[in-house]
Amino acid sequence: MCATPVHVPVLLQEVLENLPVPPAARILDLTLGLGGHAEALLARADADTRYLGVDRDPEARAAARERLGRDARLTILAGTYEEVWDEPAFQAWLNLQAHEGLDAVLMDLGVSTLQLKTAARGFSFREEGPLDMRMNTEAGPTALDWLEGQDETSLADAIYQYGEERASRPIARAILRVFRAGGLATTTDLANAIYTVLPKIVKGRRVPLDPATRTFQAIRIAVNGELDRLSAAIEQAVHALRPGGRIGVISFHSLEDRIAKQTLRRLAGVYDGPGRHAPAELPKLVRLIHPGGFAPSDAECAANPPSRSARLRVAERLT
Ligand SMILES: C[S@@+](CC[C@H](N)C(=O)[O-])C[C@H]1O[C@@H](n2cnc3c(N)ncnc32)[C@H](O)[C@@H]1O
Repeated sequence: MCATPVHVPVLLQEVLENLPVPPAARILDLTLGLGGHAEALLARADADTRYLGVDRDPEARAAARERLGRDARLTILAGTYEEVWDEPAFQAWLNLQAHEGLDAVLMDLGVSTLQLKTAARGFSFREEGPLDMRMNTEAGPTALDWLEGQDETSLADAIYQYGEERASRPIARAILRVFRAGGLATTTDLANAIYTVLPKIVKGRRVPLDPATRTFQAIRIAVNGELDRLSAAIEQAVHALRPGGRIGVISFHSLEDRIAKQTLRRLAGVYDGPGRHAPAELPKLVRLIHPGGFAPSDAECAANPPSRSARLRVAERLT
């Protein structure tokens, strides 16, 4: 049996320095993953702490349970950070354990190493596998099902919007051509369709960023609806904090970061709309900690290259 791929928690030091872990802390981790941040936060916490970890991926929950399962302070729930708020088990935990509000909420967005490195999950052009890409393997359309419902315009729009890929239109055309000829079943088939438009080697040199990166990101975001209700989920989490409690949001690409930044700025009463002044005064629910956000140090980037694009944004609830 293969060993579970190791996921190194990113910006761990910054998370530990900026999320409060007081005695009897109440912590909500909305993207538990393999429990890396959870393990480190729990190591700082006392015996009266209660930690709720949520993840939509059954394999991630199983891995986290294996890693931390014997810790009686931890509860693990299945769900998404946008919908779990309506789950009776989640509401019961909040009412019982955190009726005075949460001390800390963590959202470490995106995919884990477990998802990326497991070929059968179909997330990566580096590992040949079926075109799946679902974070929740128990529900929803796979990437192949999703592609079946696209026409050239909708696919190109998704690749452009979620991948910020300038060659979205010819790539969409190439993917659908291969799909209609019955040649699209695996991640390698998808990557090869993309390489017909954007080759990996130009003028005898390998291009620095694999040309499939942006399109894979776009399809993954679309399949999992990753950005659809991120802003609402952040806002909901902020409302669940106690005064002085903090939220930390770690993003891995500019689209996620823009949503995290704009949402937290709005909740901090900062007006980013057109014109110089807000049409009406915005309520000031949080203050921003280190408003530019935290980026990984050079040492972290060198030790853990996937952390390169990460950014942590932290805000503290005021009232
Ligand atoms: C970057 S990993 C988290 C890693 C974790 N902090 C650790 O140290 O092991 C992101 C996790 O969030 C989960 N996830 C992504 N979107 C989600 C959503 N909308 N709701 C719940 N979990 C989600 C993924 O399944 C994945 O396991």
